[in-house]
Amino acid sequence: MKVLVIGGGGREHALVWALRKSEQVTEILCAPGNGGIAQLARCIPVGPGNLHEMVNLVAVEQPNLTIVGPELPLSVGLVDELTKRGHRVFGPTQAAAKLETSKAFAKEFMQRHDIPTAAYALCTTLDEVREELTRFTVPVVVKASGLAAGKGVVICETHLQAEEAAAQMFSGVLLGTQETEVVIEEFLTGEELSFFALCDGTHAIEIASAQDHKRIGEGDTGPNTGGMGAYSTDGIATPAMRQWLLRNVAQRVVDGMNSKGSPFKGILFVGIMMTPRGPMVLEFNTRFGDPETEAILLRLETDILDLFNASIDGTANELIIRMRAGASVSIIAASGGYPVKYASGKPIAGLSASSSKDVVVFHSGTTIKDGQLVTAGGRVLAIAAVAPDLRGALDKAYAEIAKISFDGMQYRRDIGHRALE
Ligand code: AMP
Ligand code: GLY
Repeated sequence: MKVLVIGGGGREHALVWALRKSEQVTEILCAPGNGGIAQLARCIPVGPGNLHEMVNLVAVEQPNLTIVGPELPLSVGLVDELTKRGHRVFGPTQAAAKLETSKAFAKEFMQRHDIPTAAYALCTTLDEVREELTRFTVPVVVKASGLAAGKGVVICETHLQAEEAAAQMFSGVLLGTQETEVVIEEFLTGEELSFFALCDGTHAIEIASAQDHKRIGEGDTGPNTGGMGAYSTDGIATPAMRQWLLRNVAQRVVDGMNSKGSPFKGILFVGIMMTPRGPMVLEFNTRFGDPETEAILLRLETDILDLFNASIDGTANELIIRMRAGASVSIIAASGGYPVKYASGKPIAGLSASSSKDVVVFHSGTTIKDGQLVTAGGRVLAIAAVAPDLRGALDKAYAEIAKISFDGMQYRRDIGHRALE
């Protein structure tokens, strides 16, 4: 069977790597892919925002299955377009992906369906922001409603700062595009958890949970990034908590979207804050997380194709997802200057040719230039490892990353540390 993966980051490298292990898969294509994915799949230079070119690619290549990795192609309706043309595709429709692409939609949805989340106000003008802010204590959180690649959340220490952040979102100064809706949100504290469920329009089943490390600096300091590392362990959430999240968040999402006439199929990634008042949803994503996926897929024992098929065919309730016991981690090696300004095209040294079953170097932003592997993004590599416990997984991943170098390379040395303490 011929499979096409849309996207070109570490998450897609991990998806391609997992697909390679499936005996049912005979050929893998990836668009656009990257320097690492090119070793496992035929890469085709089609950008994940170009709907027309992606649809054309599928028409020409006729894959038996297309898997959509990032949010951008979901937001432009790739799943809808491919389904309309009779192609088999994994991921949510444009309407279902609104859970991620519109925070305004997600907050209203959560309120209507009794899903615990921070108190909020939705504002479309700066006057509304000023008025609503009087109801919130500080710190207060200001969020752009639309997709913002991790840059759309500002935690503000004063109302004035919140007003300024909102003004910059409306004017386009902050994100490059003018935001029409801004969400003001109560500030929550606690440990964060990324909970992943597989949904088939009717059922939600648990895949795994992980914890991302969003800030650039050790000890969770400095600006937010796309994610600098993640870990996943058996004990990251208690069985009772996992049951609760599945029932009171994921299944409610599936039921709620069903009743709206927009059944949710694909990956539901719930960002949760474990507050003293109980778990509260920070956000929904409607795709695999990056770098959580690199850590989680290392532990997946079930054929990943079975997950995609169950979601498309509405049979997730019959699927048992087996995860290897223990722990896994992913550590991002990023370009110097990321997440602000960074250079690309730096030669990468020290990648060992042989990847073991327990340590895999996934490529997030690399390309081949004149026969040489070079950096091509802010996040460059995701070094993932699995072991019977977290300490062991971290040791393996850090031993591997120590061999790798490129000009300006930076990584956090404290991934998973809070869990070790
Ligand atoms: P989001 O894109 O909504 O997940 O937000 C990105 C990050 O901002 C989260 O992972 C949290 O670390 C932080 N954040 C978002 N919302 C809140 C909130 N209401 N209170 C505290 N921190 C938040
Ligand atoms: N790890 C966060 C994200 O994928 O959005």
